[in-house]
Amino acid sequence: MIAHIVGNRPQFIKLAPLYMRLEQAGYQQCIIHSGQHYDENMSDIFFEELGIPAPCVNLGAGGGSHAQVTAKVMTELEEELLQRKPDLIVLYGDTNTTLAAAITAAKLCIPIAHVEAGPRTHVKTNPEECNRIVTDHLSDILFCPDSESLENLKREGLGEKAYMTGDLMYDTYLSISERMIKDDMPEESEEIVLMTWHRQENTADRERMACILHLVERLESKVVCPLHPRTRKCLAQFGLLERAEAIPNLEIIDPVGYVEMVKLMNRARLILTDSGGVSKESSFAGAKCLFMLNLDIWEDLLREHWICRVNPEQEDSVEEALAFAEHARRVAVEDRPRYYGDGCAAQQMLQALQKTGLVGN
Ligand code: UD1
Ligand code: UDP
Repeated sequence: MIAHIVGNRPQFIKLAPLYMRLEQAGYQQCIIHSGQHYDENMSDIFFEELGIPAPCVNLGAGGGSHAQVTAKVMTELEEELLQRKPDLIVLYGDTNTTLAAAITAAKLCIPIAHVEAGPRTHVKTNPEECNRIVTDHLSDILFCPDSESLENLKREGLGEKAYMTGDLMYDTYLSISERMIKDDMPEESEEIVLMTWHRQENTADRERMACILHLVERLESKVVCPLHPRTRKCLAQFGLLERAEAIPNLEIIDPVGYVEMVKLMNRARLILTDSGGVSKESSFAGAKCLFMLNLDIWEDLLREHWICRVNPEQEDSVEEALAFAEHARRVAVEDRPRYYGDGCAAQQMLQALQKTGLVGN
């Protein structure tokens, strides 16, 4: 039996195509939800929209500090794994759920497959970096979303376990885009700047949050921001929520499901974000990206200036970003970068699992 361990929004989006492919191939599977994300629009909506079966259990580990979430997932998950005895667990990305599951499964000697292995920021104060490094080193098979990630793993001596499969997020993006065309779903034509904002580095400090709001004001375009619950809470706590809601060109909405998100991305001429997932998806959707963290992410996209980094606290960086934003236009499908596979990552993963004998044929 294959157990998928998920708990965060981007993990549900990656899980969908792999679960479906393994089901078609006849494997027995179960989904264990850590509960790290728990609001309806951060969790259930993705299961419904993407046709993922309900989890067999929810560990209820949401809310709390890094250590609290990690510890709760570990304690609860250990019992589940002892009872269910999976032959393989599949982990996704770089969150506390991923880290906790990797440590727990490794000590129970359960083989681990890691989806989205290999990205590196080389900054240890970035919480996701710790999670990724530990998980990659404890895993038995590593699925890389792009060739840059594969190179990183080779440098760390993990090349023999690593496969360049492409990105499951691209599989999901393409399948939702096709569904939207097939169902003739209405799309609005007005162009927007799409914003997402949630990372610890951008929500822990009042001054930093105020600078991000000022950057939004200076964009002078309509900005639509599905606001992560963490960011809403931090804005409120710092007394900045009213100020944010009063910015004339900013429309704050609740987090949206993936279909709505694809619609927003497909209307965007620019995406302002600090999300690892959304900054990469910008290349699927044809919108250039302003990335609000000084981290080396998706180096191919950085190199070709698809992604431009901005430090909202530095005037010269903001000036550069405003010039980038002013010139950003939607990019036609044939001119978009293609670093993240061909939309068949799930199939590539299945083949690698069979080849290595981690699942039977
Ligand atoms: C987590 C991941 C981050 C990932 C993001 C995806 C870690 C270290 N961080 O960040 O890498 O990019 O998920 O979105 O694992 N909250 C709610 N409702 C929810 C979920 C969260 O109110 O459904 C609030 C809670 O106050 C919670 C806070 O947001 O304490 C932070 O949530 P948490 O899951 O710890 O971190 P994220 O910022 O979501
Ligand atoms: N996303 C979504 N609704 C939203 C915001 C994001 O469906 O309101 C999707 C987004 O398109 C991407 C994933 O969630 O596929 C990214 O999640 P997030 O930014 O929370 O995490 P990260 O990628 O930074 O880990």
